[in-house]
Amino acid sequence: MRRRQFIKAVAAAGSGMLILPSGARAGKNAPGNKLNIALIGVWGRGLAHYESLGAENVVALCDVNEKRLPEALKSFPKAKTYTDWRKCIEQKDLDAVVICTADHHHAFIANWALNRDLHVYCEKPLAISVEEARVVRANWLKKKDKLATQVGMQRHAMPNFNRLREMLRDGVIGDLSAAYAWGNRQIRRKGYWPDSGQAPKGFHFDLWLGPSPAHPYNPAYFAGGPGMNCLEWNMFWDFGAGQIGDMGSHTMDLLWNAVDASLPTSAEAKGEKYNPDVTPVECESHFEHPKNDWRGPIRISWYQGGAMPPSPKPYIDLKRIDHGAMFKGSKGYVVADFGSRIVLPFGDSSDLTYYKPRSQDNVLPPVGHFQKQWLDACKNTSLKTACDFEYSANMIEQMLLGLVAYRVGKKINYDGATGQVTNCPEANDLLARKYRAGWTLNG
Ligand SMILES: NC(=O)c1ccc[n+]([C@@H]2O[C@H](COP(=O)([O-])OP(=O)(O)OC[C@H]3O[C@@H](n4cnc5c(N)ncnc54)[C@H](O)[C@@H]3O)[C@@H](O)[C@H]2O)c1
Repeated sequence: MRRRQFIKAVAAAGSGMLILPSGARAGKNAPGNKLNIALIGVWGRGLAHYESLGAENVVALCDVNEKRLPEALKSFPKAKTYTDWRKCIEQKDLDAVVICTADHHHAFIANWALNRDLHVYCEKPLAISVEEARVVRANWLKKKDKLATQVGMQRHAMPNFNRLREMLRDGVIGDLSAAYAWGNRQIRRKGYWPDSGQAPKGFHFDLWLGPSPAHPYNPAYFAGGPGMNCLEWNMFWDFGAGQIGDMGSHTMDLLWNAVDASLPTSAEAKGEKYNPDVTPVECESHFEHPKNDWRGPIRISWYQGGAMPPSPKPYIDLKRIDHGAMFKGSKGYVVADFGSRIVLPFGDSSDLTYYKPRSQDNVLPPVGHFQKQWLDACKNTSLKTACDFEYSANMIEQMLLGLVAYRVGKKINYDGATGQVTNCPEANDLLARKYRAGWTLNG
């Protein structure tokens, strides 16, 4: 038992009350079984967590923009406030952190929190480099029996995710050979914004930059509305992974959940001309994946910014689906968006007699409330979360490897066990980011 948990238990014992440490199997609604949580990034996407966090003890609030803190304190009046997450996560009574900062801090905060035995909910994307994904996954795998993790891909709780998974496993299109996901958001930027003077008082821009190389302040990075401001900075290489970290995280999840992929053995990609400041808008990447226990090897593809997979039939205009997924099998195709799916049987033998829809008793159980799934798992770590740091790190590692293949402009072979590209030394140089002095990924 950790010191603070011990103290809590001793103090409670004196009052005749039993308070169990986090991770104890107390039953998810046991009285007193509330978590002490730090919310890091309190505005924007952070606001979407207020309701579920309201049932717990939010004891710390952290935001690089001091202006955001008074409003957050109205919802969580007992919390201590911080502007630097490195100080925040040292608060001694914490059980868990929720990370809603800009993407270039995600893997840092997640690693530091895991290293302090804290449960972690991290908004997507979990990482913006292959190395970050690997380090955070490895850290969590060492502690997965006692710490709950979840990446904010909350669309995963939509019933269509389960239905697609069931159908494909049950053979609705025969043997699966390929899967495609796409997103056609197109936000174009030429390069980092020019210097526009000092950040407003109380906005700690140097802390916002954090581990990333220094860039001058410009309010254009912060011109978006709540929960949308990420679209003002996530396309810049030093602050995000563009489409891949943005809607790509949600849309690849729709595919990933259905095909049970782990790490690819190769990646190749092509797209618009490389810009050293900005991630590509138009790009497509392709990955070879080994077989697993229910299907043969498959090819997974990701298309973005206008690039699209070929339509299975001329009468289907895939472009009408902004963010979608498609699966190809020996007996046809399934085309899906987040909430619906169509089956397109193909060929002379695709009479569907081989496919039996599941009975009500055999369908996969619903995920339920996505954030609450994590909160419940923090309290009872025998419970699983849908998008834990293994599932989510694998997925984002593949996507980020696609960006590496795009940058080197050739097909790369990948050894997922060692995290090394085996046929292209210059690709290995792009697997990790360079950080500013004083910032440690795994601190
Ligand atoms: N799951 C979803 O559907 C969804 C939707 C929107 C955004 N997001 C994710 O949420 C995150 C935040 O996006 P946003 O649009 O709210 O961005 P934002 O720029 O509005 O930032 C949110 C808040 O975090 C604060 N912040 C940023 N970096 C910080 C740091 N290092 N330390 C402390 N506070 C920090 C900002 O000042 C702001 O108050 C992004 O990673 C984004 O991908 C997820």
